[in-house]
Amino acid sequence: MARRRGAPDANRVAESHPGRTGPVCGINRGGPVSRVFGVGDQVLLVDRKGRRYLVALEVEAEFHTHTGVVAHEQILGEDEGVVLRSSRGSTFTAFRPTMAEYVLKMPRGAQVIYPKDLGPLLMLADVFPGARILESGVGSGALSMTLLRAGARVTGHEIRDDFAARAIANVGTMLGVEALDRYDVQMKDVYEGISDTGYDRVVLDLPEPWLVVPHASNALLSGGIIVAYTPSIVQATRFRTALDENGFSFAETVEVLNRTWHIDGDAVRPDHRMVAHTAFLTHARLLMT
Ligand SMILES: C[S@@+](CC[C@H](N)C(=O)[O-])C[C@H]1O[C@@H](n2cnc3c(N)ncnc32)[C@H](O)[C@@H]1O
Repeated sequence: MARRRGAPDANRVAESHPGRTGPVCGINRGGPVSRVFGVGDQVLLVDRKGRRYLVALEVEAEFHTHTGVVAHEQILGEDEGVVLRSSRGSTFTAFRPTMAEYVLKMPRGAQVIYPKDLGPLLMLADVFPGARILESGVGSGALSMTLLRAGARVTGHEIRDDFAARAIANVGTMLGVEALDRYDVQMKDVYEGISDTGYDRVVLDLPEPWLVVPHASNALLSGGIIVAYTPSIVQATRFRTALDENGFSFAETVEVLNRTWHIDGDAVRPDHRMVAHTAFLTHARLLMT
């Protein structure tokens, strides 16, 4: 938790940390970002027990936990991996969060798609730089930032303006405001239709994706791909029926299971706990007859 003690003064920070050229808001924007922490950066603080805390760096702010206080000034101007000592002697290591870590810790409106499904979804949708993608709904922006970081141009259809605002804010924080040039979130009920045509991909995460299939068959280019993320198999079967009725082929429904292993020298076994089920991923291709 950050507590501010005064108004931000970016000039003062630039003087005290001369390696920086100005505030950096994005985390992993792919450009020549300074590795030195600065005002506006997201930082993951990891304690000795592996607990993770996401902090946005501010001037004269403090991070408070039950194991003491860390002043943001202790992090500003430092490199990734710096080890910090709290006011009560606890140690924290500071890193920039990966996208997977950010998705799990970022502010949420709606439930996000978890990283274990986001990676495969990129492959199943065959996302490529410059792809025109219709995404609905945008929720908290986890899927949006995944598509955008792969280089796509994303048009979102969302019915809740608070979720739309949250998604845009999370994308801007994770990828930098430049990514917002490729992100157009429209307040629109996708069950009533898709604005525009000529999309390469349609990606859906909402309760009744089968209602979108007829619109998608008009909005997609021939050869385009549709993917739906559905927690229930009944949703997946209804979606599959709609795909069959609207000119889609090569449909497949998959479930991604991730099992981690405990490895301690030669003592090895599967971890006792795993996230066994999140959702089904159903994908298909539009073939014009
Ligand atoms: C589970 S959330 C999506 C989460 C998102 N995939 C993410 O990773 O952050 C579902 C979203 O669909 C939106 N939604 C539901 N029905 C919709 C509709 N008919 N048209 C557009 N958006 C809709 C909800 O408001 C919500 O934001």
